[in-house]
Amino acid sequence: MKFLKPELPIKKVKLIEVGVRDGLQNEKQLVSTEVKLKLIELLSQSGLSVIESTSFVSPEWVPQMADHTELVQQLPDNGIRYPVLTPNLKGFRNAVSAGAKEVAVFIAASETFSTKNTNCTIKEGLYRTNEITKQAADLNIPVRGYISCVMGCPYEGEIAKSRVRDVAAELYNQGCYEISLGDTIGTGTPGETQSLISIVSEVVPIKQLAVHFHDTYGQALANIYASLMMGVSSVDSSIAGLGGCPFARGAAGNVATEDVVYLLNGLGIQTGINLDKLVDAGNFISQHLNRPNQSKTAQAILTKRNDKNQ
Ligand code: HMG
Ligand code: MG
Repeated sequence: MKFLKPELPIKKVKLIEVGVRDGLQNEKQLVSTEVKLKLIELLSQSGLSVIESTSFVSPEWVPQMADHTELVQQLPDNGIRYPVLTPNLKGFRNAVSAGAKEVAVFIAASETFSTKNTNCTIKEGLYRTNEITKQAADLNIPVRGYISCVMGCPYEGEIAKSRVRDVAAELYNQGCYEISLGDTIGTGTPGETQSLISIVSEVVPIKQLAVHFHDTYGQALANIYASLMMGVSSVDSSIAGLGGCPFARGAAGNVATEDVVYLLNGLGIQTGINLDKLVDAGNFISQHLNRPNQSKTAQAILTKRNDKNQ
């Protein structure tokens, strides 16, 4: 029997590394600014071009991100993009004062999650993002837009895809250059993923869409493959599979960057990333947090390395 190699509509994928932000925000144990900067340095050496570095959110809400100003002030000027999350104008202004050159706003497609995560309705949240995008445009600062709970909400369950589409249209019209579809609790499956992308692409071009999967049900890589088949070429991932959201109980870590790079390498898609160096970065932070690396690819490469050394 002859198997056909599936034709992907894309040749190149941009990875957005979210481990330092989405990964660490969920950690109870405070990680020092020095360790975060070392992790960013190791990630930078692997060839990643976008590394989300922190959030200018309230330290009362997310203590792990309280060192945002010191961290941004020490980021190297090396051509790598280091976007930061900003929930409101206060966060945006603080981010700009610290020296951030790119920001990301975030909205939920679920009312309950919006209240739990940002203490406001979706409408109020979109008012806040509009304030940010307007000021950012004046300052020539690119803004990325995240939508949470696109495949389900920890409080409301199923979320209508038309709701995600409407929120995506708002963010895109406000000027976000890319909309990242966040499966916050990792309940999505490939068919649902393709159906969502098809609906959202009625209002945002596929080239301007990114996907952001948490791996609670082990579907993240399959969902990414399904997204690539639709022409999505921007993928969020987290080193060593770190992650979760303090306001989404039960949500597992993000898809591991090492696993995504292995998948893309196998598909012959260019990423410009050195997998061995990524594994070193994942090892560094996993050892620091005193836990095994969650990436299957990293585990396999580490076993091979150990076998060679014996
Ligand atoms: P609030 O308590 O409603 O804020 O929080 P407020 O406006 O009532 O102000 C209360 C106090 O907070 C005031 O201080 C403000 O100045 C201060 P006081 O006068 O009492 O001394 N404040 C701030 N301080 C620092 N930075 C700020 C800020 N804003 C107000 N930016 C707020 C509202 C949005 C700030 C809060 O709910 C918050 O910080 N939420 C962020 C939660 C978060 O970080 N969640 C995780 C990120 S989203 C995510 O992980 C999903 C994603 O990965 C995609 C996916 O997986 O789905 C992106
Ligand atoms: Mg997330």
